[in-house]
Amino acid sequence: ESIKVFAPATVANVVCGFDILGFAVNEPGDELLMKSATKPGVRIISIEGDEGKLPLDPQKNTVSASVISLLRHLRRDDVGLEISLTKKMPMGSGLGSSSASAVAGLFAANELLGSPLSKMELLPFAMEGEALACGHGHADNVAPALFGGFTLIKSYEPLEVIALPVPKLFCALLYPHVDVPTRDARQIIRSKVLLKDAVTQWGNIAGLVSALYTNDYGLLGRSLKDVIVEPIRSILIPEFDYMKAYAMENGALGFGISGSGPTVFSLYHSVDDAQKVLTSLQKHLADKGIKSNIYLS
Ligand code: HSE
Repeated sequence: ESIKVFAPATVANVVCGFDILGFAVNEPGDELLMKSATKPGVRIISIEGDEGKLPLDPQKNTVSASVISLLRHLRRDDVGLEISLTKKMPMGSGLGSSSASAVAGLFAANELLGSPLSKMELLPFAMEGEALACGHGHADNVAPALFGGFTLIKSYEPLEVIALPVPKLFCALLYPHVDVPTRDARQIIRSKVLLKDAVTQWGNIAGLVSALYTNDYGLLGRSLKDVIVEPIRSILIPEFDYMKAYAMENGALGFGISGSGPTVFSLYHSVDDAQKVLTSLQKHLADKGIKSNIYLS
């Protein structure tokens, strides 16, 4: 028996919702083929598209480590699974690469086992994979990769995830080829915030969630603001201020860092605006000697 699955890249934080908001995009993402085997255990047969960077040791790769935890939980040490992973997305880019792999592996294994767990029950296993990849088990990438659409992590303890409505929007992603490890990008954020900044942020998060329910694009744009994390993290992203200003002047409803960066994302009503901004910003970065990938969903 075998199954082929696709798990999408995700935009975590969505500007104001640090560690609690995220959405899935159509592309890029991970493709995974999983086959049942008679020999028990989880094995990685091949990984393509990772330039040889990902570990083939099943304990060390998020695609398999989360499946190993799942099988242990289900007491299914009799099960054999073989994984072939094709990374069709950049790694370490802020697009939730490790989450996509963990979700692809878990979803495929759960299906091959006859769906013993619900998606909600799979989520903690995907978070374990995230902790393995970047030292912290946040859920704002894994939840949208698993459920699709926009998700809100209402709370971590106990874990409560809410699927939010998705208005018609286009998302432009631009990944500049610079290194911003999630661990480092988390370390530079201050652990304390001013009450006045917290009040601004709460207002924006609530405004954003309300805008998603009411299709209020004006409110959506006014709410996509971050006074806590972006001012610090944006320093790690080349040309951030230029790119943000350009996108906002050319039809973007909002612009921000995808996850911990360096990818930046912007949201649009019009697919033409999204395409135009992507093409111009890619050229701008190329003129500065920085290569980039662009994606439109
Ligand atoms: N919410 C996490 C962070 C996502 O911003 O560190 C990491 O991709």
